[in-house]
Amino acid sequence: MPLHVVTAGESHGPGLTCVVEGLPAGLELDLAAIDGDMARRQLGHGRGGRMKIEKDSAQVTAGVRHGRTLGGPVALQVANRDYANWEERMNPWPVENPVPEVHLPRPGHADLAGVQKFGFTDVRNVLERASARETAARVAGGALAKAFLRALGVHVVSHVTQIGSIRASEPSGDLAPSDFVDVDASPVRCLDADAAKAMVGEINVLRKRNESIGGIFEVRAFGLVPGLGSHVSWEQRLDGRIGMALLSIQAAKGVGLGDGFDLAGRPGSEAHDEIFYSDERGYYRETNRSGGLEGGMTTGEPLIARVAMKPIPTLTKPLRSVDISTHEPAQALRERTDSCVVPAAGVVGEAMLAIVLAGAYRDKFGGDHIDDVRASIDAYRARIGWKPR
Ligand SMILES: Cc1cc2nc3c(=O)[nH]c(=O)nc-3n(C[C@H](O)[C@H](O)[C@H](O)COP(=O)(O)O)c2cc1C
Repeated sequence: MPLHVVTAGESHGPGLTCVVEGLPAGLELDLAAIDGDMARRQLGHGRGGRMKIEKDSAQVTAGVRHGRTLGGPVALQVANRDYANWEERMNPWPVENPVPEVHLPRPGHADLAGVQKFGFTDVRNVLERASARETAARVAGGALAKAFLRALGVHVVSHVTQIGSIRASEPSGDLAPSDFVDVDASPVRCLDADAAKAMVGEINVLRKRNESIGGIFEVRAFGLVPGLGSHVSWEQRLDGRIGMALLSIQAAKGVGLGDGFDLAGRPGSEAHDEIFYSDERGYYRETNRSGGLEGGMTTGEPLIARVAMKPIPTLTKPLRSVDISTHEPAQALRERTDSCVVPAAGVVGEAMLAIVLAGAYRDKFGGDHIDDVRASIDAYRARIGWKPR
């Protein structure tokens, strides 16, 4: 059974649901780790008032007994505290008093194409599901994928490398999972303290100007075996799957794997990672320009992906739009909004990468119980003589 993650829920509806199907039985889960990730998604300088209302926590309602998975679908529920303020407007059932419709689509959001596609007259029918509130459910599901990966010695982390015009300096030398232990203590989840300060300043300045701000985050996965994914068909290529998953994050507009777009301008001799072998290490590379992916498969080196986020579309000084009930010029909807979500998006990126990688492990190694998975991986490691990095 391949790993399958489905989310349901609207931004101001009663709550969000995530169903994760395809995890092996016997996997130990830790509610504190799941809720820890939920809280991390709410972090970051530049978030709006909504994050003060929500204190996200996932309730497991199926698929787990006494802290271990049972092998069936796992269901997670995340309540929307804000629903208390939206009960009339977002009630699943008819309400007594008519609720005013929203007719002002925001440029850069799903609003206009959504109402056209579904034949709605009320933009709220689109924006409630398009909203990145949905990422709370992804992070809950991603926490299960991460637990599965952790049980196999794989760690997924993220950090912010750019906000607006401020770029963090390149880390000197290789990064290890231990380098990310304190990243959440930074108000923008950036490893470079000086750049972080400047990023906070940039957010403050632009927020005062009623602007929103984009940036870049990086996700890394350590401890992957070589050969996850496959070169044999386009659908199995792991680079494609990772790109799809990361680009599906609301406001993500570009993904680079390894040195990504920078590779385009380099000569071949500076674009690839030469292959070495020693009895101690087995096959290894001295560079990782490929970001741990060649031919749609993992190489065993750390996986590195960078994601460019556009500035979010809801602006406190709204852009020009058209009233869809009159076709007259109007200002776009002003909904309560964040101004910079790049630090939070990194946590969502971890979840999406973990979901793809957990799926790749399920595809390659199968197994009904977590011990079957480990045994299968051990046999593979022995066959290829691979030593964990
Ligand atoms: C964590 C997170 C929070 C977001 N918060 C907001 C927000 O408060 N206001 C907003 O307009 N967009 C926000 N976005 C982005 C929109 O959801 C996104 O731009 C919109 O769904 C349109 O999709 P697209 O930008 O991928 O085309 C957020 C995105 C993420 C990842």
